Parts: sequence; C-alpha cells; structure tokens
Amino acid sequence: MNNIKIQPTWCWKPFDVPELLEIQKEFQYIQQLQFPGLNRNDFLYIDKDILEYHAPVYCEFLKRIKLYKRRSDTALISSYGSDPFPIHIDGEDWENRCFALNLPVYNCDQSYTVWYKGTRSGLPGGYTDPNDNRSDAILYDEATAVEIDRMPASTPAIVNISVPHRPVTLHKNLRYLVSTRFVPELFDIVRKYNTQ
Ligand SMILES: [Fe+2]
Repeated sequence: MNNIKIQPTWCWKPFDVPELLEIQKEFQYIQQLQFPGLNRNDFLYIDKDILEYHAPVYCEFLKRIKLYKRRSDTALISSYGSDPFPIHIDGEDWENRCFALNLPVYNCDQSYTVWYKGTRSGLPGGYTDPNDNRSDAILYDEATAVEIDRMPASTPAIVNISVPHRPVTLHKNLRYLVSTRFVPELFDIVRKYNTQ
C-alpha cells in the first residue's frame, strides 16, 4: 500500500515551515558564499558540505519531518532581469521525478511558480551531462502553452514538477528560492493530498 504511486493532478500544496525566517537567512548567506554576484536565471546546486555547515536550521527542519536522509539535491532557483525561464518538466519519469519542496528565500514577492498545459518544443534544455539531473528536463513550446495554475513563490510548498512549469517574476531584481528533491519520491508524504 505504501508503494502506490499516483501522478498528482494538483500542482502545489502549501507546506508549514515555522523556521522559515531563520532558514531564509541561512540560504541568503549561502548564496553570497557559493554564488557571489548571482544575476541570472538558473538552477544552482548547493554544495553538500556548505549545506550541512551553513544551514543547520534547514537540516534540522528536514530531520524533524523525517526527510533528511532522503534529500538528494538542494538547489537555488534564481531569476533575474527580463529573460523568461523556459517552461519545462523536470524529467520524463514522473515516478522518480515528481515533487520538490520549495521555500522562498529572497525577493519572492511578486514572483510565482506557474503551471501550463502545452506541447513539447523538442528543443534541448542546455544541460548535457547525463549525471546531472538538469539534463533530464524537457522543454515546452512557449507560444502555445496555456496557464493552468500559479502559486506565489513566497509560499513554502510541495510542488508538482511533472506538469510543465516555470518561475515567473514580475519585478526584474534578483529573486531565488531553495528547492530540495528526495529519493525515494514523496508519494508517501503527499498521499493525504491526492484525495482532496
Ligand atoms: Fe522545474
């Protein structure tokens, strides 16, 4: 029963993070340490040692919700300026690439994660290293995509990355959130949402 995997029809669910203010300070420091001068749209892996040393509150949070040992990647997702982030799904294999835990970190007001219904563009995503999860992303055609849902990026949430999506920011300043992925996937955690 615990192994049942259902691809969710919902796009996001808010997630309670009482330690959010402290966690935001940790990742603002990590941004300055690992990605000084950040000024682009990107998906930037945080070094494991840096995470463990400089984000103790975040690590304790993950331990408290019993996800620390399942953490695979933690990354900053940044946007900056007027270039749009490409619409994408994170991978073909939704059974293993379906969810992310996203927490706002910096300037996430007037910024959204937006989901779309659309068709694949066939264009390459720009990452080619097969060991890099970013190379699994599949891009969607921007011109024909239709928005189906959006959430404020300022909301901590579990997001569905198996439906086409992207960050959309209404201001042109740097903004970033922290996104963590887990193995095995969070189907056990989100089971309560699938019947709502
Ligand atoms: Fe994504």
